[in-house]
Amino acid sequence: MSREKFYITTPIYYPNDIPHIGHAYTTLAADIIARWQTLLGKEVFFLTGTDEHGKKIELAARQKGKSPKAFVDELIPSFVDAWKKLNIRYSRFLRTTEKEHEAVVQSLLNSVRKKGDIYLGTYEGYYCTDCEAYYTEKDAPELKCPIHHKTLEKLQEKSYFFKLSKYQKQLLSYYKKNKLFLSPEFRSNEIINRVSEGLQDLSISRTSFSWGIPIPFDEKHITYVWFDALANYLTGIGYLNDKKKFKKFWPADVHLVGKDISWFHCVIWPAMLFSAGIEPPRQIFSHGWWTFDKEKISKSRGKVINVDELIAIAGVDSARYFLFRETPFGQDGDFSEKELIEKHNNELANKLGNLFSRVTSSAEKNGIKKIENKLIKKLALKEIEKKMEDLEIDKALSTIFSFIDKCNEYIQEKKPWESETTDKDKILYELIDSIKAIAILLWPFIPETSEKIARHLDFEISYENIKKAYQGNTIKKADILFKKI
Ligand code: MSP
Repeated sequence: MSREKFYITTPIYYPNDIPHIGHAYTTLAADIIARWQTLLGKEVFFLTGTDEHGKKIELAARQKGKSPKAFVDELIPSFVDAWKKLNIRYSRFLRTTEKEHEAVVQSLLNSVRKKGDIYLGTYEGYYCTDCEAYYTEKDAPELKCPIHHKTLEKLQEKSYFFKLSKYQKQLLSYYKKNKLFLSPEFRSNEIINRVSEGLQDLSISRTSFSWGIPIPFDEKHITYVWFDALANYLTGIGYLNDKKKFKKFWPADVHLVGKDISWFHCVIWPAMLFSAGIEPPRQIFSHGWWTFDKEKISKSRGKVINVDELIAIAGVDSARYFLFRETPFGQDGDFSEKELIEKHNNELANKLGNLFSRVTSSAEKNGIKKIENKLIKKLALKEIEKKMEDLEIDKALSTIFSFIDKCNEYIQEKKPWESETTDKDKILYELIDSIKAIAILLWPFIPETSEKIARHLDFEISYENIKKAYQGNTIKKADILFKKI
């Protein structure tokens, strides 16, 4: 029987510097969701990668006196390593400089042109190289980029245009019929309002620089980096090279993006796909932004934390846990080292770590005896499933942790370490069986810790095992899971 598929993507990152917490956040979210869906038994494809063309990269390379390709080649390992260190299990790491991708972009451009949606015109506008986007005077009143606050550059060039305006109605009706498409819901109005005000055609080629994919029908022009980048979601699952795979995984179930790039994903991307006759993705989920000690993340002001620094604070699992524990997925969050350490100490070490070590050490002394686990009835499994389905990652974690609290209350109430307590072995069985369920449910979030628990208690991490009674019979006292800081 073929398994249900699940296709999830991260944005592809500009490799103009090493990855920081903002990049790690989306990639971790995708990893958590991908692992969750894998646990549920789906066949998951998880795509990530790097967005290597465009003026921004060309400029960054020039400043270092390197060719753009040599420049990006040197930075890619820092992304691959960062994801490895964070325990991220992607299916493919796509680079937009791959030949396969170049062919996809050109084929997409040809399809859109065949549809009559591309024409040659002149573009004059105010450009932000950081966004790789033009702004109108209305969007940027003082001619400063609304995101990067830099003075915009006035540019005029011959350019091919994509008839984005033509798709206004179709987009609006798509949003109406597919409520999930613009997620989370509280962000949807902004997009709907902007689209309702009318859409301008989009300039999709440049002649002012050369680092990019040539327009197939006029090679003097280079494809606008967003047109190139968005197509990665097609390339990643074999749009041209593996039709069978493409058919299986497309449409994407969810594109995770930061709120700054929702417009490209919620408006331009589906319009491109309508034009090319390809079904749009099912959901664009836009998450919030992290600040650092309440300030915007900025390398120049030293307000940045890269992946190695993040991991160095309290380890990989604590970093993964902290980023999703409190800040609702979708909202902005503030990163503080102090809070991370507090969560590590008070929740991972005190709640989960202590539960595991108390239960295993008591079980070593008193043994366990299999009975019906009544304690596990307090686990709100359906609720956790629903929260994960709705991408309320923080709430799912919170529900799992309330069950950990219940287990701690139970052990406190029953005191299986006291000599006069009766049925110690039965109580301890219930606790061990509950820890098994907890470890399985936490695997998407803190995989290293879950795997440690599973190895120690000798069970397999699988969804069916949550409900299957624990089969082991001798338990040894375990090593500490989280050292307090
Ligand atoms: N290359 C484009 C994406 C193309 S997708 C077809 C791009 N790259 S980026 O490297 O600038 O940003 C990638 C992602 O990182 C975005 O989703 C952005 O929101 C996210 N973040 C960058 N800084 C961030 C924070 N401070 N906090 C949370 N996420 C942030 O845009």
